[in-house]
Amino acid sequence: MTGGATPEPREFAVLAADIAREAGDMLRQKRSARPEVVQTKSSPTDVVTALDRAAEELVRDRIRTARPGDAVLGEEGGATGGGDVRWIVDPIDGTVNFLYGLPEWAVSVAVEVAGTVVAGAVNVVPRGELFTAWLGGGAWLGGERLRCNTGVPLSRALIATGFGYSAARRVVQAEVLAGVLPVVRDIRRSGSAAADLCSVAAGRVDGYYERGTEYWDHAAGGLVAAEAGARVGGLNGRPHNPDMTLAAAPGLFEELHDLLVTLDPERDA
Ligand code: IPD
Ligand code: CA
Repeated sequence: MTGGATPEPREFAVLAADIAREAGDMLRQKRSARPEVVQTKSSPTDVVTALDRAAEELVRDRIRTARPGDAVLGEEGGATGGGDVRWIVDPIDGTVNFLYGLPEWAVSVAVEVAGTVVAGAVNVVPRGELFTAWLGGGAWLGGERLRCNTGVPLSRALIATGFGYSAARRVVQAEVLAGVLPVVRDIRRSGSAAADLCSVAAGRVDGYYERGTEYWDHAAGGLVAAEAGARVGGLNGRPHNPDMTLAAAPGLFEELHDLLVTLDPERDA
């Protein structure tokens, strides 16, 4: 896929899926019974394993080979390169689950052209599920086209969410949760934002919200949810962003949004 005009979103999705599949295969093969923590980041509970780095290296290498001029933003390696096409990579979203052997962690690869995410692949490796989406092309789990749940009122909605690594942020997230939990069907916390967004797409939860995810956590999954019919955004008309990512079918999105606004979820303690 080197040289020439910018490829179509579908071609980027195929390449992103191939790369996410290969990185997932490597991780599955190399994961030991208890992977070793090699570094902590924003807090002592925000961990990195050697395999986070190895997976990102593999992903970067495959991007470099296929698309040598493209920029990359990766969770472990930061920003490299420049230009219109940028790959957004989370080598392991759900690193704590990876560490403990829980089944919800994913390789997340998205492609942005001129600032818009046009393709994404989320490989939820332990479940053997590869989600893909491209702009205008729908969201897919293997060969199955995905549609999010519609017509679910907030009072019957199963809502996924997550928590950050900083204690101060968690205090507020707990307060917000206390306002949400009594008025919904129930809450799920999977430990992978990318997988949560794919769960919205697949109708396994009705909605998702989280304060504090990074771009690499939600770039690919956000497109998967949107292409499955979900509205994906932030608060007060903003696009989804590190302050807030919200995803649900239209109708439920607005109900959840309006509830969250009353709880002032973007503050820190
Ligand atoms: C984390 C996961 C988690 C979310 C955190 C993220 P990481 O990503 O997506 O579900 O609640 O906000 O930081 O650290 O496992 O890549
Ligand atoms: Ca990660």
